Amino acid sequence: MLEHNALGGQTDETAEMDLPRILVTRKLSIEPLAVLEPLLGKVNETFLLDAWDQEGPMPRALLLEKVGNVDALVCSPGDKIDEELLTRAPKLRVVSNHAVGIDNLDLERLTERGIVKTHTPDVLTDATADLALGLLLAVARHLPLGEKLVREGKFNGWSPRMLLGLELRGAKLGLFGFGRIGKAVAERAHAFGMEILYVANSDAPAEVVAQLSAKRVAFPTLLERSDVISLHSPLTPQTRHTFNRDAFARMKKGALLINTARGPIVDEEALADSLEAGHLGGAGLDVHEFEPQVNARLAKMDRVLLLPHLGSATADTRERMATRALTDAARVLRGDAPLHPIRSA
Ligand code: 8YV
Repeated sequence: MLEHNALGGQTDETAEMDLPRILVTRKLSIEPLAVLEPLLGKVNETFLLDAWDQEGPMPRALLLEKVGNVDALVCSPGDKIDEELLTRAPKLRVVSNHAVGIDNLDLERLTERGIVKTHTPDVLTDATADLALGLLLAVARHLPLGEKLVREGKFNGWSPRMLLGLELRGAKLGLFGFGRIGKAVAERAHAFGMEILYVANSDAPAEVVAQLSAKRVAFPTLLERSDVISLHSPLTPQTRHTFNRDAFARMKKGALLINTARGPIVDEEALADSLEAGHLGGAGLDVHEFEPQVNARLAKMDRVLLLPHLGSATADTRERMATRALTDAARVLRGDAPLHPIRSA
């Protein structure tokens, strides 16, 4: 744990106690002070910083211990900002989530307490959409199985019937969720000649529909017509396990499932059953129901590609996410409105 709280020359402990304290729960891809000092002044003179400096998440017990005197918390999806944590954080003024997803935050409790909540939308849209397309291409064309075969020395020459995949041009892509990332996936898939269907609470703007020839459909229609379904909705009590046994049974035989949103939108045991029974044709999962645990049955399947939550993992995107999260924490501490507030609840 890197603590910038030595008070650089000052010895007055009360002065230290009065300074606002920022806690950063992950080792970010940039040095936090590069963003914080231009906004807040010199560390240890105008504010204090505790930044977790190890690769994994800050242990929950330590987080609970530390929040007691924290004014601003920069956290990420692995940190549950819940009742238990909030009751131990009497000084907390802002929770800045290093993520677009906000399912780790108890929004109601935060709002009740008057704590400002912020997140990092937009900056990760392209990176996540690129990864979704990567999974789609890989699963549609059996890349994991092909690669395994080559590495295991089982490639004995070209064959007309080897690993025949799905032709993307003309195939139907069903998007569950048509927000920023869903639309960015649609743009890319449209360029591959895929037909776009989507499920959303409202119609997309006319120009988007015209440009992508995207068609809004009811959920059962999405299930029944799509050759590939890609998930782009937030995780909420309503979307949890939307992709369950019934949903998989309604999907086309051989259809593919791509998930770069949140693991618990999918019932993984039901997915494993459907794949095992030969109904669904494959899946590409960047997120997992019990992350970081990975479903043991899915992990054994050649038609399933599993990734370690890489959606926003490009150097540029992670730099922008960290900059936004730190900037908003600092803005709230100095009395300015955050640039990316979470408005719900
Ligand atoms: C990151 C994400 O894994 O933004 C999200 O909601 O899930 C991903 O971008 C995460 O935010 C890292 O903190």
